[in-house]
Amino acid sequence: MNELGDLYQQVILDHNRQPRNFRRLEGAVRRADGHNPLCGDRVTIYVDLDGDRLRDITFEGSGCAISKASASMMTEILKGKTRAEAEELFRIFHRLVTADAPAQAAGDGLGKLVVFSGVREFPVRVKCATLAWHTMRSALQGKSATASTE
Ligand code: FES
Repeated sequence: MNELGDLYQQVILDHNRQPRNFRRLEGAVRRADGHNPLCGDRVTIYVDLDGDRLRDITFEGSGCAISKASASMMTEILKGKTRAEAEELFRIFHRLVTADAPAQAAGDGLGKLVVFSGVREFPVRVKCATLAWHTMRSALQGKSATASTE
């Protein structure tokens, strides 16, 4: 297995076993539910804002290891970012998991999240990796409907 593939396994296992920011956020000013109709998995994202900045972001839900690890790492990278920065990271992450560009270049700015480039080969897994991200976007946009990977 190549280095990125190896890291992918380690990171997913670690975040699946010990998800960061995995809790309901009391006092959250934004919240959205996400759903992957393919498997039935669900995630809830909570956001607390300080002006334009994400003061805190947490999640709850039940899902596969990839969706949980992606949500966990997303909350880590987005904490303290502005809404515009969060939107930009969503765009970069989405391109990372769907584009043909080399992973390191496509994932510039994502840190360890670059390991998710491994899901490109598996369309079903792309939905797992992006579930929390679509839901976070809905939360920031104040949408009340459940975000879906479809
Ligand atoms: Fe359901 Fe991955 S299998 S989100």
